[in-house]
Amino acid sequence: MTAIRPIRAEDQAAWLPLWSGYNAFYRNEPTEEVTHAAFHRLCDGSDGFFGLVAEDGGGLVGLAHAVFHPATWTTGTYCYLEDLYVSKEGRGTGAARQLIEGVYVEADRRGAGRIYWHTQQYNAPARSLYDSVGHATSFVVYER
Ligand SMILES: CC(C)(COP(=O)(O)OP(=O)(O)OC[C@H]1O[C@@H](n2cnc3c(N)ncnc32)[C@H](O)[C@@H]1OP(=O)(O)O)[C@@H](O)C(=O)NCCC(=O)NCCS
Repeated sequence: MTAIRPIRAEDQAAWLPLWSGYNAFYRNEPTEEVTHAAFHRLCDGSDGFFGLVAEDGGGLVGLAHAVFHPATWTTGTYCYLEDLYVSKEGRGTGAARQLIEGVYVEADRRGAGRIYWHTQQYNAPARSLYDSVGHATSFVVYER
């Protein structure tokens, strides 16, 4: 049985391996300063950060991090789902689906007009999930 709940300060030790696994998946190497800032902003909800964790009997198995932000097309807020990760051991039991549904609940609570996220074209497991909880748009992402 997997439970979804907001992240809290006592989760730091259990959250770190999930954060590391997620960053390794993207070959990203955050500095300690970035990791520290991310965790604390997720816990205190500052800068629009919002974090959920998935917990089973053995501890934390997944995370979802979102950022609520203002936008020019609304007087309200939009929700960017930035990070989603489930440990290899925790996969295939519905944890990621529950994490997304948890973000939806919070986004609805805050009246977010849009919830959006990115993934890589070839991330088949993630896209299979996303196709069942949302829809792909025709936008492509640019950056410099
Ligand atoms: C993608 C990821 C979050 C899925 O986590 P999960 O907890 O195993 O997913 P769930 O058990 O909630 O599965 C939900 C749906 O995802 C899809 N899915 C999950 N794993 C899959 C796989 N290996 N192959 C195909 N589809 C898969 C299925 O549609 C599944 O629905 P179903 O159970 O009704 O068939 C997980 O594999 C992961 O963390 N991957 C590495 C990081 C990553 O890709 N994050 C997303 C970046 S945008």
